Amino acid sequence: MSTLLTAWKAAQATLKAAGIDQPSIDARLMLEAATGASRMDILTDPYRELTAQQQAALDDFVAQRARRRPISHILGRKGFWKIMLSVTPDVLTPRPDTEAILDVVLPAFPEHMAFSMLDLGVGSGAILLAILAERPAAKGLGVDTSSEALAVARENAANLDLNDRAAFLRGDWTAGLGDAQFDLVVSNPPYIATDEIETLDPEVRDHEPRLALDGGPDGLDAYRVLAPEILRVLKPGGLFAVEIGHTQSAPVEALFRQAGADQVRTTQDLATRDRVVTGFKNPLETGG
Ligand SMILES: C[S@@+](CC[C@H](N)C(=O)[O-])C[C@H]1O[C@@H](n2cnc3c(N)ncnc32)[C@H](O)[C@@H]1O
Repeated sequence: MSTLLTAWKAAQATLKAAGIDQPSIDARLMLEAATGASRMDILTDPYRELTAQQQAALDDFVAQRARRRPISHILGRKGFWKIMLSVTPDVLTPRPDTEAILDVVLPAFPEHMAFSMLDLGVGSGAILLAILAERPAAKGLGVDTSSEALAVARENAANLDLNDRAAFLRGDWTAGLGDAQFDLVVSNPPYIATDEIETLDPEVRDHEPRLALDGGPDGLDAYRVLAPEILRVLKPGGLFAVEIGHTQSAPVEALFRQAGADQVRTTQDLATRDRVVTGFKNPLETGG
């Protein structure tokens, strides 16, 4: 019979043999989910025996992960910033890189300020809901073209008790917004060049929605549409923040400058790679 410790080690060995990065973390997360044990239990009670049912659940998880199914799909959840989100194959698994958007946006909006925000391509709701959780007087709208993704985002908003401040709309970027304007617009659009998708890890290439990845021949298709549209739907003086691929700073900054944005700049993520382009709409401008 396996113990928490031997089961963890065996799971790590299987994942390592399958070429998984970070086998120790994934093995621990699956052990916790299969047994109900916490990280602390594994450390302080390592000789606790698994029941046959727990062992079978763990074996099933490990076999799925060895076939390169993402851990977020196996467990059905993923932590982002300070919130836990339900995740399905219909949404992009939220990435730590994307937290760089919160690092730049939150300091611009004091904790109790009332403001409106728009998240274009809301997916699981990661950015919108993490910001609303941090800013209790803010309200937000999440737009996505995928109704399946919107169902996940709505479920996440309800689970986090944010559904009175988060609304969701199915649409093609800003097409359904009329003349609504917002204090803050964020977006993490698809930005992988089409030909590059085949070179990505199987977890991404075979399991993430293409709609969340494919940015067209040079990866910039979405920004060409979004730059002028984001300036149109921002209030005068409003802030935008868009995630970029780490080689895309110069062309994305140029698109936003051409669209009339002020103070356009790029911020890096924790790995010191270019990750977020931000800027403002001129406070004296009323049109787009
Ligand atoms: C890279 S994912 C980002 C998801 C989420 N915001 C995050 O950061 O984890 C891009 C999202 O944009 C959505 N999307 C793609 N094309 C769109 C369009 N034309 N209009 C609205 N949403 C779109 C996709 O369905 C996907 O949910």
